Amino acid sequence: MPGKLAIEGGKPVRTKPFPPRVQMGPEEERAVVEVVRSNALCRLNGTKVKELEKKFPEHMGSKHGIASTSGTSAIHVALGAARLNPGGEVITTPITDTGTVIPILMQNLIPVFADVDPLTCNTTAETIEEAMTDKTVAIIPVHLWGQPCDMDPILELAERNGLWVFEDCAQAHDAQYKGKKVGTMGDMGCFSFQQSKHMTTGDGGMTITDDDELAAAAAAFALKGNYFDVFVGMNYRMTELQGAVALEQLKKLEGVVEKRRRNAERLSGRISDLEGARPPHVIEGAKHVYWLYPLFLKPENLKVDPKRFAEALQAEGAPFVWPKSSEELVYAKPALTQKRVFGDSGCPWACRFYGRERWYGPGLCKTAEATLPNVLTLAMHECFTHDDIDDIAEAIVKVEANYRK
Ligand SMILES: Cc1ncc(COP(=O)(O)O)c(C=O)c1O
Repeated sequence: MPGKLAIEGGKPVRTKPFPPRVQMGPEEERAVVEVVRSNALCRLNGTKVKELEKKFPEHMGSKHGIASTSGTSAIHVALGAARLNPGGEVITTPITDTGTVIPILMQNLIPVFADVDPLTCNTTAETIEEAMTDKTVAIIPVHLWGQPCDMDPILELAERNGLWVFEDCAQAHDAQYKGKKVGTMGDMGCFSFQQSKHMTTGDGGMTITDDDELAAAAAAFALKGNYFDVFVGMNYRMTELQGAVALEQLKKLEGVVEKRRRNAERLSGRISDLEGARPPHVIEGAKHVYWLYPLFLKPENLKVDPKRFAEALQAEGAPFVWPKSSEELVYAKPALTQKRVFGDSGCPWACRFYGRERWYGPGLCKTAEATLPNVLTLAMHECFTHDDIDDIAEAIVKVEANYRK
């Protein structure tokens, strides 16, 4: 008989709080103080962001880096650098942050959502191909939750059709696909340094590329289009304070990723043979970096819905477990279903460069809609110990045993 669940009055697996995620240390503190004392807080006056733009791409195995203010701006920088004409369609995934889609719309381009692989929740060459039209100009594969997309077929599809590939690596720093780090396979790779990410500057971003011309255009786009000498760009300058913190965070990145991977693999090992839930499936040749740990429920084998399963896990002492919902799919959000972008013009869809019908809302990507509500995400991090992981595993095993059909 499995132990009585805490949510039903039993003893919780864990009463001690889990360790907080501590990202900042004396190194970052010293680095920030140094910048403050230098009186040079803008990158135009200092050296830190410039140094980061050398070291970050070096670490990833790429030639150029263009720092910016967020992951959203890093993607905007990529699209701006590519000088895409308005009205082109850009294919991405509906399971992502809105930051993937904002730059598409701001460049007067049309977001198109490809369905996902139910095993991983990532888009694939097949789902992308289904979403393609004669207007498709680019693909933004998102390496969701830290797992690389199956890139070879995606790159082959892009090559065959003359499409740009901008990798969204906001959740996947140092993730690898067949020995290559994410961000180095497409035309450009885009990273976020928002607080929850593997390395952080509070907010911040970086676009990387091997292409000299694209790099120059990206740098111009992030610097007001070189004051309109090149084109109209944005002011996405990262500050020296962020640059200084990022340089310290970069030194810690490998350690963070390694600990997360070890923890996640330990958990996966302990829950691999349950009937009501499964660990994330890692595709061949991939190194997952577990920004979040997705637990895939098998509803056909469970007596309760995912929300109840999550609440039961929380009651066992794991407050960092969240059920996902199809309402989170980007295309289901009001700004897209009601096409609220540029006033009430209906642009970019109504723009004469596009002028086609395209709707957004439930029903668009059936596999994503069927799969996501059966996923719970666990915000496990590098400060968790093996004992912490074992308690999480015990809680999952206990809840599954009680709720299994
Ligand atoms: C997949 C993905 N893309 C883009 C972004 C946007 O990054 P930022 O919040 O730094 O703008 C995020 C942020 O969470 C993300 O997870």
